[in-house]
Amino acid sequence: MSDKLYDKILEIALKRSILIPSAELYNAVSGFYDYGPIGVLIKKKIETVWKRMFIKMHGFHEIESATIYPEIVFRASGHAEHFADPIVTCKKCGMKWRADKLLEERVGGSYDGVSEDQLTRMIKDNNIKCPKCNGELTDVARFALMFKTTYGGESKNIAYLRPETAQGMFLDFQRIFATYGSRLPMGLGQVGKSYRNEISPRRILIRLREFTQMELEYFFNPEIDDIKEFEDVKDVVIPIMGKDNQNIENITVLQAIEKGYITNKIHGYFVVLTKQFYDMMGVKEYRFRQLNDSEKAHYAVGAVDLEVNTSFGWIEAVSLAHRGDYDLSSHSNLSKKNLSVFDDKVGKKVMPNVIEPSFGFDRLFWCVLESSYRPVTDEKKWEWFDLPMFISPYHAAVYPLVKKEPLVNTANDILRSLRGKGLDVIHRATGSIGRRYARADEIGVAYCITVDFDTQKDNTVTLRFRNDGRQVRVPINRLYEIITLFTDNDVRTLGGSKKVEEFPVVK
Ligand code: ATP
Ligand code: GLY
Repeated sequence: MSDKLYDKILEIALKRSILIPSAELYNAVSGFYDYGPIGVLIKKKIETVWKRMFIKMHGFHEIESATIYPEIVFRASGHAEHFADPIVTCKKCGMKWRADKLLEERVGGSYDGVSEDQLTRMIKDNNIKCPKCNGELTDVARFALMFKTTYGGESKNIAYLRPETAQGMFLDFQRIFATYGSRLPMGLGQVGKSYRNEISPRRILIRLREFTQMELEYFFNPEIDDIKEFEDVKDVVIPIMGKDNQNIENITVLQAIEKGYITNKIHGYFVVLTKQFYDMMGVKEYRFRQLNDSEKAHYAVGAVDLEVNTSFGWIEAVSLAHRGDYDLSSHSNLSKKNLSVFDDKVGKKVMPNVIEPSFGFDRLFWCVLESSYRPVTDEKKWEWFDLPMFISPYHAAVYPLVKKEPLVNTANDILRSLRGKGLDVIHRATGSIGRRYARADEIGVAYCITVDFDTQKDNTVTLRFRNDGRQVRVPINRLYEIITLFTDNDVRTLGGSKKVEEFPVVK
């Protein structure tokens, strides 16, 4: 087997049905992955933490908008015109390749925003051939990224699958603004699927054709580009690269704003929140990077990406953009409905501006798997995922020590009681207890509960902690309380005070 980290992780992910190639019965098309039962449990927990941190803690609002919109929406958003990738086609085998990514891989550097003519010249100058058959490549052309469809059986009714969830927030802004007191600032967010017809989907979850985004649009008056929470975070140190620098500077977010890397305090606040979120998810090696003008999306006034160092190299995981009034102004123009709003703080109508933290869920999920993967060691003879406790797929596994009564019955009672309280719990009565612990560790189950012969005497069970295999005796009636002490997802304390050493010794 390969010693590449991504191969090892993919092997466990497939073996344990964390991930499943979509439609694999029919030789799965690349760029589509299903999340199996364990994948979904982790996904839902991560999404819950994101929603708490980016939406609920601030009193913002969550929506769930359509994923297909008529063409006019994407003419307004600029995607119909701008959302295309530079591609080359092999003259021999017909394969299509992303021109910028070929150059990145063969020559190094970033080619976002470089013109087609320049890319064509660079491909020729560097003598780059088809990676599959070494054939000659065509000149660079543009390839539209949105999936096209029609609605109502009329071929003239053109629509597209959304390439970002964000447009839903812009389209629904006016109505929600009116419903919720007509006051700026206002935050609207959603978690949902986006679709891009990527020309070369690859690297497992990194470049998909259907993926989940977690996006927040923070609408504010451009004359008041401040947020009260900024005061609490202004001295937080972040690793960041300015657009003209090759080196990472560890500076406070306030300094990053003063140097012009980050556009304003609101932008800075969401950069810090993104850092805190990634810290909580256990991802260690990341940096923020200010995008230069040619790299920025068509709607962005300023943009900073969070990039993570993975076994595939540095990848963009979050985009934090100042979108100005691009979207609301464009939708006002095309719909002929004025989306500006009255702000009583300045006594006049303004077109709100928007700061957008845009998280790709699947890239985050991959980063979490990579950072939590632990290889075989002398202490543990199996591979496992050291997932943060609050995103472990199962809070606990319940095992009778042997498959005998009354142990099995008691284990079932505990299972029903914990499931009834909303915990995710698995059980298994057969196999050696060591093997069962190993199977639970492998997928990051936080605790194993073992019912043994002493249980009948004193109503206690053994609670085994995943990370170090430590075991304590715990009364059955305190199981829920102790398990949730370490697996709750209170975003005010996550990644904070609770350390493994604090694991309670219960007599
Ligand atoms: P890239 O340059 O890698 O294609 P992008 O700049 O097009 O990314 P954005 O348009 O900024 O990405 O999208 C916001 C976020 O959505 C990204 O940071 C990423 O996490 C996620 N994302 C974008 N495209 C994909 C994809 N094809 N597969 C998985 N996630 C994606
Ligand atoms: N909403 C940011 C993007 O997907 O481009």
